[in-house]
Amino acid sequence: MLKTLHLTFILLSLISFVGRVILSEVNPELLKLKVLKIAPHILNALLIGSGFVLVFQGDWLSGDFGWIIAKLLVLIAYIGLGLFVMKSQGTKKWVAFIAAMACIVYIGIVAVTKNPWFFI
Ligand code: HEM
Repeated sequence: MLKTLHLTFILLSLISFVGRVILSEVNPELLKLKVLKIAPHILNALLIGSGFVLVFQGDWLSGDFGWIIAKLLVLIAYIGLGLFVMKSQGTKKWVAFIAAMACIVYIGIVAVTKNPWFFI
């Protein structure tokens, strides 16, 4: 149940990020709307909050928890890249956007495999 919520928040957070990136290109004025400024923070807080509750619910800290640390570190990188994407223009913006998407894919694969080094 909580995992389903966690997965739902991931989807909503992704939609809100990609949606804001699209708006920044086609209609940046809309990004000034209060709801579009606040909603992403609420979604991201719910996403991270549900992740933390899942950690305790599943007693994941009593075993090998390197994958959780990896998720958190790459999540910080994802947030930083997201902020950079929204503040920049041109090639830098799109390189950061692709890097942010790569972070999400990495976090997702680590969540499923529980292995931060799944690629070696
Ligand atoms: C963008 C951020 C995140 C993404 C894309 C993500 C992705 C996922 C996915 C795909 C699963 C399902 C894994 C499975 O069923 O095999 C999952 C579960 C889980 N996530 Fe996240 N997650 C994120 C953030 C977090 C954070 C911040 C935490 C905690 C610090 C966290 C902790 C967990 C835990 C403990 C599970 C349950 C694992 C299980 O029961 O197998 N997640 N996450």
